[in-house]
Amino acid sequence: MTCQKEKPIALFDSGIGGLSLLRHVRDRLPGEHLIYLADSAYVPYGDKSDQFIVERSLEIGQFFIEQGAKAIVIACNSATAAAVSLMRKSFDVPIVGMEPGIKPAMIQSRRKRVGILATAATVASKRFATLVERYGDEGELFIQACPGLVEQVEIISLDSKETHDLLSNYLLPLKARGIDTLALGCTHYPFLLPKIREILGEQIQIIDTGPAVAGQLKRVLKQSGALQERAEGGGIQFYSSHAREELARQIGELWGESVELKSM
Ligand code: DGL
Repeated sequence: MTCQKEKPIALFDSGIGGLSLLRHVRDRLPGEHLIYLADSAYVPYGDKSDQFIVERSLEIGQFFIEQGAKAIVIACNSATAAAVSLMRKSFDVPIVGMEPGIKPAMIQSRRKRVGILATAATVASKRFATLVERYGDEGELFIQACPGLVEQVEIISLDSKETHDLLSNYLLPLKARGIDTLALGCTHYPFLLPKIREILGEQIQIIDTGPAVAGQLKRVLKQSGALQERAEGGGIQFYSSHAREELARQIGELWGESVELKSM
């Protein structure tokens, strides 16, 4: 029997956005074996129904269990909003999700004026409404759904005029309302950070919950006695529901080294 510590941690996203979280997990847990799955046959999730996202998440969770995963990370705010509760009921391993950083943004905002970018699915979800109810009153919260942005990241169009125009449409109204803090509520958006900075300038602080989620994963593994503490030696396996050469190239480009991509 494989020792619990030797088993992989499995992460998934609708596509390649979750690589932004994978980076933090890799840095934080260098000895762990990781599996990353891009559900590229169905990206984006942001315009899909809750039921659809739940079905995909459960199917992916089952696949991860078959791969022997000791923990599952939902590297996607939209899938967390729709499916984290059901995944926790369905699978007997720790499930770590992520949510838009309204709470840390409110804490860190000096003027208590916070902007938040997320997908339409996340913004429409009950979990998001609960977050807004809980922390929204601590200041002024400006919520912006961002259709189209995920698609731009998926084709690695990070610096194009289309991406610039889309982002300007979403960000300039927030800037005009005097926000001093912006929370990125989708794992695709950290890849747009240079563009976001170009449009917003250096004065507005930007919050990505990726590092906090990697820290939470480490705590959860430690508590359950499954943490692999060695300082190196972890590998990564990449999977997709739509594995093809072009996607392997795109993952390699965002990840910074060439990768082998297998079919789910
Ligand atoms: N990266 C995802 C998120 O964090 C999903 C984006 C999408 O597929 O719409 O919400």
